[in-house]
Amino acid sequence: MPDKKFPFTGFSSVAIHGGHRDDPNYSHLTPIYASSTYVFDTAEQGMRRFSGEEEGYIYSRWGNPTITEAEERISALESFGIKDENGSPLNVKTILHSSGMAAISTLMIGTLKTGDKVLTHYSLYGGTQEITEKVLPGLGIEAIIIDLRDLDKAAAAMKSDSKIKMLYLETPANPTIQCVDIEQLTLLAKRNNIVVAVDNSFATPYLQQPFQYGVDYIVHSTTKFLNGHGTAIGGALVGKDVEHISGHMTKVHRLLGGNSNPFDAFLLTQGMKTLEVRMDRHCSNAMEVAAFLEQHASVSKVNYLGLTSHPDHATATKQMRHPGAMLSFEMKDGLDAAKQFIDNLRMCIRAVSLGTCDTLLSHPASMTHYGVPKEKREEYGITDGLIRMSVGIENIADILTDLQQAFGFWKIN
Ligand SMILES: Cc1ncc(COP(=O)(O)O)c(C=O)c1O
Repeated sequence: MPDKKFPFTGFSSVAIHGGHRDDPNYSHLTPIYASSTYVFDTAEQGMRRFSGEEEGYIYSRWGNPTITEAEERISALESFGIKDENGSPLNVKTILHSSGMAAISTLMIGTLKTGDKVLTHYSLYGGTQEITEKVLPGLGIEAIIIDLRDLDKAAAAMKSDSKIKMLYLETPANPTIQCVDIEQLTLLAKRNNIVVAVDNSFATPYLQQPFQYGVDYIVHSTTKFLNGHGTAIGGALVGKDVEHISGHMTKVHRLLGGNSNPFDAFLLTQGMKTLEVRMDRHCSNAMEVAAFLEQHASVSKVNYLGLTSHPDHATATKQMRHPGAMLSFEMKDGLDAAKQFIDNLRMCIRAVSLGTCDTLLSHPASMTHYGVPKEKREEYGITDGLIRMSVGIENIADILTDLQQAFGFWKIN
């Protein structure tokens, strides 16, 4: 059994062993604890568990050993190598959710109240955008949506409106792969007592660690690169104020009921073990795909943070280990060309979502961002000819061959 006090120096060692607890039956992997409830030896013990006097599981909406392992592994990865203000290893806490959207909902509902405002960037995952523009206003919470890459504009917004209580960042952002400066925006927010949350789903803690810059929360759609195999939907809310997330946020999470389940948590825990090696391959493939697309006559624009032509290349280089595995590109001939290209694919997969071993391509305007009005979509750069690509870990030659033949210049047998 690995020694829990072992001083791991590498990210993969933490991704493999982090959060693991010895199993009472000596099982190598923490089993799928498929039990909704837990037994008390005595009524007295049940009372002690409810009052918090004694640690122990009570009911699986509140906690479950398989879920705990996934939560502790995410905490270990998001805080890996980061020190707190006293020079001690940063301590953070994760609550695993049934989906990324459930984690975002707990974050927003647990943090904001009627009259508050949330400041965010205009390029966001479609579901998050709809939550901020369609659900929060019903609760009396207004979303202010600007281009957060303009730091002067961001500073002016935060300074001029004391009702802004949360700065919500998604970087890199869906689907235009824009990138905002976490460090500078967090500095501005902290001057104005604003809570900062970052959606780190595209980057993962291997490429980017927002807690380095003093953010308060990280959210993940664990469905994506953390799971890595497309086997389960899930989400995580990770907080740096352990007392607050263990108290108030845990209460909100339990009451809203967006809990994960042991089977999905098990799949996530196994998937995270290969995060570093997967991301290295995803990223090197993405760089080659981006270079290929950039020179292609049928493509008018490639959004990939690794290209110096991307306006946010410098920000990405500053805060990310590598510019990631997500890109999008615009077909010169618009919607019909985009549809034809996607239909022509023979190995890469026509599907939404991202972060799987398989390369996935989708059409944001008609799929993930279908709910966003056309004029808004276009303003945000989500044109009808835009195709989003989550570059997988297949052999690069096969990915490029498939893309090449999908453009229709030549056919393979
Ligand atoms: C960046 C980002 N955040 C959040 C979500 C929502 O996650 P889930 O589908 O797991 O609810 C998604 C989904 O695609 C996403 O791309």
